[in-house]
Amino acid sequence: TEEQKLVWLGAAKEAARLAGKEVRSAFYREKTVTMKSSPADLVTETDQNVEKMVFSFFRRKFPTHRFIGEETTAAGVPIELTDEPTWIIDPIDGTNNFVHSFPFVAVAIALSVNKEIEVAVTYNAILDVMYAAGRGMGAFRDGKRISVSGATDIKESLVVTTAKSLLTPTKMEDTFHNLRALLEQGRGIRNLGTAALNMCQIAEGAAEVYFEFGIHCWDMASGALIIREAGGVVLDTAGGPFNLMGRCMLAASSMDLAQTVASGLRHDHKKPDTVE
Ligand code: IPD
Repeated sequence: TEEQKLVWLGAAKEAARLAGKEVRSAFYREKTVTMKSSPADLVTETDQNVEKMVFSFFRRKFPTHRFIGEETTAAGVPIELTDEPTWIIDPIDGTNNFVHSFPFVAVAIALSVNKEIEVAVTYNAILDVMYAAGRGMGAFRDGKRISVSGATDIKESLVVTTAKSLLTPTKMEDTFHNLRALLEQGRGIRNLGTAALNMCQIAEGAAEVYFEFGIHCWDMASGALIIREAGGVVLDTAGGPFNLMGRCMLAASSMDLAQTVASGLRHDHKKPDTVE
């Protein structure tokens, strides 16, 4: 019910603000950085502490709910998405930004029930901007309704994407191919360094196309709902139905635009987040 969603959404915002306070207070201090899979894949003690904090906040409020979190997964806990209410959490989306004190760092929280995202928040903890959505209830930025720009033509579009560093030569070529095609047709390419906040740019009509390969369910869960509730389209990068566990996303301000971009992309297929 709507009341139930408002309770969940209220809790998600409260958790994001609590987490955001932690992130902010650590932001300008010296950070303890550890490398994960590559020199560009980092984790700090703040990522881990904030995830623990958010988990225990929800555990107190909703003792039967389940969890998926970036750092818990990194520590070896398998990703399991069932029909049960499950909070999907990225404590710091944009860890690299956090390490460099580049002020686009998000706390991303979403609740899945029967494998549908019901509520979502993406909180820019440094600039104090809260994006939120409830399924069927619209998308909001600091309480004000937001919507996509509605552009249908790539010629009128700003593209948001991440050109990942340290890829293999073949993957680098694919990346350049994709960037070249979009630079030849669109109005430019931007990247905030956080998938969750990149997605919010589509939702609020600041950009028209977003795509990325290699991201995980905790990077995508909140943004997918916020974009859809803002009137946007969320697909996989081949133009098929979006799969939260599919490690990629293509989002756009309209279906025409999404399909145009999908047809021109070279794809990078990744191992899914979970096998059902
Ligand atoms: C990363 C950011 C980045 C995206 C990476 C993600 P993290 O998340 O969202 O924009 O390109 O794929 O892993 O690791 O900082 O939470």
